[in-house]
Amino acid sequence: MNDERICMTIDASTRYDVVIGGGLLQEAGERIQALSGICKAVIVSDDQVFPLYGETLRSALEKAGIRVFSFVFAHGEGSKNLHVYEQLLEYISECALSRTDLLAALGGGVTGDLCGFAAATYQRGIRFVQFPTSLLAAVDSSVGGKTAVNLKNGKNQVGCFYQPSLVLCDTDTLWTLPEKEYRNGFAEVIKYGMIMNAPFFRKLAERPAREWIREVIAQCVSMKREIVMKDEFDTGERMLLNFGHTLGHGVEKCSGYTIPHGFAVAIGMAAMTRAAVQHGICSGETLQELETILERYDLPMNTEYSPKELADAALLDKKSTGSSIRIIVPECTGRCVIRTIAAEELIRWIV
Ligand SMILES: NC(=O)c1ccc[n+]([C@@H]2O[C@H](COP(=O)([O-])OP(=O)(O)OC[C@H]3O[C@@H](n4cnc5c(N)ncnc54)[C@H](O)[C@@H]3O)[C@@H](O)[C@H]2O)c1
Repeated sequence: MNDERICMTIDASTRYDVVIGGGLLQEAGERIQALSGICKAVIVSDDQVFPLYGETLRSALEKAGIRVFSFVFAHGEGSKNLHVYEQLLEYISECALSRTDLLAALGGGVTGDLCGFAAATYQRGIRFVQFPTSLLAAVDSSVGGKTAVNLKNGKNQVGCFYQPSLVLCDTDTLWTLPEKEYRNGFAEVIKYGMIMNAPFFRKLAERPAREWIREVIAQCVSMKREIVMKDEFDTGERMLLNFGHTLGHGVEKCSGYTIPHGFAVAIGMAAMTRAAVQHGICSGETLQELETILERYDLPMNTEYSPKELADAALLDKKSTGSSIRIIVPECTGRCVIRTIAAEELIRWIV
């Protein structure tokens, strides 16, 4: 892997850098010391990622004079809940972390969302650094400050906007990422192309993303940066990033979270694009382009759940406001629009 580092600054309510490249875990100590005043850190990680990278991060932080603790939870979406969140807060408190200390989220999107929410709420907010190790976390969840845990009724029902102080995306960690998790991340990568960047979409279609993964991550982060800096709190343009997500969250919920997030988003993007064709909003060629790329990246496009089951599950999602719901609809490859529809109409968009 190329050693060159890519660095971008996100200018949101907190200004922070996103650094992408190999070997960043080993350098974490120096980079975190630059944040100043940190004496203790808790590494938050799941039981698949911690055995792979926990000691590397611990030793890098200790070399920088930081006292390190670790909190390891069972991997998977099932841990993104209030119970694990409470256990984490109790642990941080036992370690006597103060507001000048740090949480380090080492893992995928589940770890980042859970750790970020704990950081936002412990003692009214302590700093946290994202170390994304899944492709999905690298291209999407580690940047932009959405933190949350799930409730029985749906995804991300409790959470807040809280930006990290730094994102260190060590691309070497992707070497151990299982094939299925790569595919899971590619759904979010394809999403960026569909909502705002047709040339990027077509390049992904022509050349396997794994061959230029560092640049793929950098381009996705750059697109997310652009959107987050215009609409940090998700009141306008940022909603475009939810393309495929309203139905996707419904799919995840119906499956009892056995269908991973990216696969569910792929199903949601395909369903929404089929509906857009039926409603005369986009052409059959756009649908074909999307279906071709989803097939190429071995992503699902259909689900066994009925439109009624999916609509009911999706309407519990946080994006429904009273009797209306916002959906993201493609007009063509590289351009999506936000539409507000009556909640009962959603079922007509699941085809
Ligand atoms: N906050 C946001 O803006 C945002 C955006 C998109 C998705 N999300 C959330 O992200 C979550 C999905 O993220 P995810 O797909 O990363 O899930 P995840 O965190 O569960 O990681 C997926 C699996 O990959 C394993 N893994 C991660 N990195 C690895 C590595 N380098 N080597 C080996 N195994 C590794 C994990 O242990 C886990 O089993 C969902 O909860 C979703 O709601 C949040």
